[in-house]
Amino acid sequence: MPSRAEAIAKTIRERVRDVTVLPTLPVVVERLREALAGSESNAAQVAEIIRGDPPLMARVLRLAGSSFYTPAGAPLGAKNLSLAIVRLGFDTLREIGVTTGVIRAFHHMHFGAFRREEFWRHSILTAVCAESLAVYSDGLTAVLPSELYVAGLLHDIGMIFLDQFFNDEFTAVMLLSRSSQTAAPAVERAWLGIDHAEVGALMVEQWGMSPLITHAVRRHHDDLWEPDGRAPAEARDTAARVVNVANRIARLPEYGFGRKGGTVVLSRSLLAGIGVPIERAGRVRDRIDDEVRQSEVFALVDVN
Ligand SMILES: [Fe+2]
Ligand SMILES: [Fe+2]
Repeated sequence: MPSRAEAIAKTIRERVRDVTVLPTLPVVVERLREALAGSESNAAQVAEIIRGDPPLMARVLRLAGSSFYTPAGAPLGAKNLSLAIVRLGFDTLREIGVTTGVIRAFHHMHFGAFRREEFWRHSILTAVCAESLAVYSDGLTAVLPSELYVAGLLHDIGMIFLDQFFNDEFTAVMLLSRSSQTAAPAVERAWLGIDHAEVGALMVEQWGMSPLITHAVRRHHDDLWEPDGRAPAEARDTAARVVNVANRIARLPEYGFGRKGGTVVLSRSLLAGIGVPIERAGRVRDRIDDEVRQSEVFALVDVN
């Protein structure tokens, strides 16, 4: 006889695999990712895709017209989509596309245990931190930093699935985690037989995302640290660690998000463990600060 937790875990796994249950990512996300990844990607093709999705276009124009992208002296408000595309660059466009698509896919979901805005802000902040760390990591030189952005964005997505489809059980787990001050994944495994990291990985897999993203989501709470502070041999383990660190940076009180303040220090050994030499610590921090300002973290609410 399977235990109660095993039985719940089995049902959860079946639900994720059920295409009528798992939200689909809007087609525009994949089209945009493909167009921006191709060697022949050109601004006209990208413009056409964006133009076919008015809310996405509005978002691109608004961001390109923000003070961050508008050169000193140039008027605010980019009316011209081609100009907006040039200003933002393909990396940023890919991120806006994927972020908009993911948020939209979950728009009708129930966010009982979370404040929706806070959840997405945490996710986006983790995404920009993971990407910034990836840029400076020697362990991820063969990986596109935007893969880490996606992994960071989706790292906690399993929570939303559990909250939506297993609300009673998940709410009880969250309460227990808080009252016992035990980390959520451990309580989830004890009561549901599976944790949100695994559920998220199954979802990401089901969406056809890369094995690196799947692995990073699956292992984002694992203790992958080696005592000698060396980076792992495999890029996918480095990616999981990067998301782990990014998740903790995203909780630092200075960014003002999340209920719990974080305490992560970008120490020599922590950075070495993700393949970033300590000499780059300042640049990593600067980039994170820049990206946080640049990303729409502070103006996220109206995606639909
Ligand atoms: Fe998590
Ligand atoms: Fe998180």
